[in-house]
Amino acid sequence: MHLDRIIRGATVVTGDDARIQDIGIADGRIAALGISLSAEGAEIIDAKGLIAMPGGIDSHVHISQPSGPDVEMADDFDSATRAAAFGGNTTVMPFCLPVGDATLREAVADYVGKARGKCHLDVAIHLIVHRTDPVTLGQDLPALHAAGFTSFKIFMTYADMALSDRQILEVLKVAKDLGAAVMVHAENEDAIEYLRDEAERAGRAGPAMHARTRPVPVEREATHRALSLAQIAGVPLTIVHVSNGEALDEIRRARQRGQIVHAETCPQYLTLTADDLDRAGFEGAKFVCSPPPRDRAAQAECWAGIEQGDFDLFSSDHCPFRFADAAGKDRPGARASFRNIPNGIPAIETRLPILFSEGVVKGRISLSRFAAITATNHARLYGLAPRKGMIAVGSDADIVLWNPELTRTISQSDLHHGADYTPWEGFEVTGWPVASFLRGEFLLHENSLAEYCGGVIACGQPDQRAWQ
Ligand code: URP
Ligand code: ZN
Ligand code: ZN
Repeated sequence: MHLDRIIRGATVVTGDDARIQDIGIADGRIAALGISLSAEGAEIIDAKGLIAMPGGIDSHVHISQPSGPDVEMADDFDSATRAAAFGGNTTVMPFCLPVGDATLREAVADYVGKARGKCHLDVAIHLIVHRTDPVTLGQDLPALHAAGFTSFKIFMTYADMALSDRQILEVLKVAKDLGAAVMVHAENEDAIEYLRDEAERAGRAGPAMHARTRPVPVEREATHRALSLAQIAGVPLTIVHVSNGEALDEIRRARQRGQIVHAETCPQYLTLTADDLDRAGFEGAKFVCSPPPRDRAAQAECWAGIEQGDFDLFSSDHCPFRFADAAGKDRPGARASFRNIPNGIPAIETRLPILFSEGVVKGRISLSRFAAITATNHARLYGLAPRKGMIAVGSDADIVLWNPELTRTISQSDLHHGADYTPWEGFEVTGWPVASFLRGEFLLHENSLAEYCGGVIACGQPDQRAWQ
């Protein structure tokens, strides 16, 4: 058998199994799995003591997303994919959002242009559907779906993006006809607006009020409503960035009714709390994201959801803004009112180490479950499997080698994203990705990165069956 490379002696995580074996790579694909593989001329990579995981797929990241006239996202495709690769990923999935009057098709052409030649790993693009005019629903979505843009995100919050219930049903109908995957940001915009106005009238305008004006019922109600609309439309639905047990209970109930629902949570809901938004001065702005981090009880509920298999997806919701920057968190008006603080935190490089350390090393989840919720399920749901997301013969050789014993303290000075801070400064983790391969070639090697070896890839048909 011809093999270009053999990764020798790692603990290889495949499906429900994790065992010491070799991985043979040929022509960018996994060609063989087994003990004592050999092939003339193959490069041997000694991986004893390391864990070979499917390359991380982060299916929820925001890169170069238009964020308003005076606000700039801290990452472009270069810096975001560089940081993602250092954090153990081989594929990321950002969102395309049209600006102004641009059509979705124009926006995609523009967005792909921004990515071209700038990607250190593979990128597949979701579409944000924030309006429901006939061109968007009747022409752009079908054409883009046919071209491999097969997943849509819709919002129930943010004044300029939120859809009404009727509009949500219209998008769900199109998704049903096309077989597209839909994810929803579930928070009740009217309730938030009411609470914001009330807080401002009372003169309470610091970053901590961001969390207090988006309390759990705001998310729970919208989650229930989104799931009810999906039931009416008869489509599967993914609820992204679930932050607490009450919203998760709505998902459990919908599944009990027989609905196909996928659920995503993120590192911020396992490790941060609303108290972080209450840090002295303007520091709390570093933690402003939506939904906001909750309390310790909600963290425990999210962990239980991970341990019990209620969450299919663990993503970063990377949405980076610089802190000490008038085009970032400190934009004009942000200190006067929390409503003007850009929403989002940088997490693309720290997502996997945090889950590996807090989940695998602390004995909460197995290696296989880690692989499922950080890679395999993302690939299945968004139409990238079996090419991506698994260590299996025939799949792309997207493989990350983890040193499970390496202990590091997360520090902004070591990270590669474009933001000027990390919410996890000083957080100690055990387990770190030390090498990786993208389509069989070294991506991350001895702490340096191959340049621009990734590109924009098309998704296939999503697999929306429930799985655990
Ligand atoms: O605060 C967040 N999460 N910003 C990113 C946009 C979104 O809602 O996912
Ligand atoms: Zn969102
Ligand atoms: Zn997001």
